[in-house]
Amino acid sequence: MPAAKQPEQPFLSDVKTLRERARQHLTQGAMTPAYKGDVKQAIEILQTVLATEIVCVLRYTMHSIAASGISSESVKEEFAVHAKEEHEHVLQVAERINQLGGKPNFNPEGLHTRSASQYVEGENLVDMIKENLIAERIAVDHYRELIRYFGDDDPGTKTMLQGILRTEEEHADDMHDLLVAHEGKPMLR
Ligand SMILES: [Fe+2]
Ligand SMILES: [Fe+2]
Repeated sequence: MPAAKQPEQPFLSDVKTLRERARQHLTQGAMTPAYKGDVKQAIEILQTVLATEIVCVLRYTMHSIAASGISSESVKEEFAVHAKEEHEHVLQVAERINQLGGKPNFNPEGLHTRSASQYVEGENLVDMIKENLIAERIAVDHYRELIRYFGDDDPGTKTMLQGILRTEEEHADDMHDLLVAHEGKPMLR
């Protein structure tokens, strides 16, 4: 019986090849030759995500300080919790940009135009809640789209975005509940 023919290109790279490749590209950090995506494009997209998250930190922080009126205390607390979680997102995204070989853009100049969500102060408590709900819904849509975009070409970025999306969905839900509690009627979903 003839010996089974060895395929020339095994599906999985053997450990030795993986190690050799890793050593050859030490300066590239997490960027290995197996990365299938368009790195430049990925970094550019993540700069937008970073700006969006920074604007979210700023908006929630401002609201957590400025919210006033009867029963605002619990809302202020909620805004402060969200500000902290948005800050965690900022760190995660900046870290990913760095891993991909980019430089996270924290420049305040042009921040608002790079961001997908807006910085709106809001006139009163209900306004603030509404602005945050709008921003969260934009973020949720944006992240769903990006998760589809990155797909299997960049599972690392995709997984990170999936984690962030889960928090943004919770944020949107929280803002929706607050709106119902303070205005008495839900916004159309
Ligand atoms: Fe966020
Ligand atoms: Fe959020």
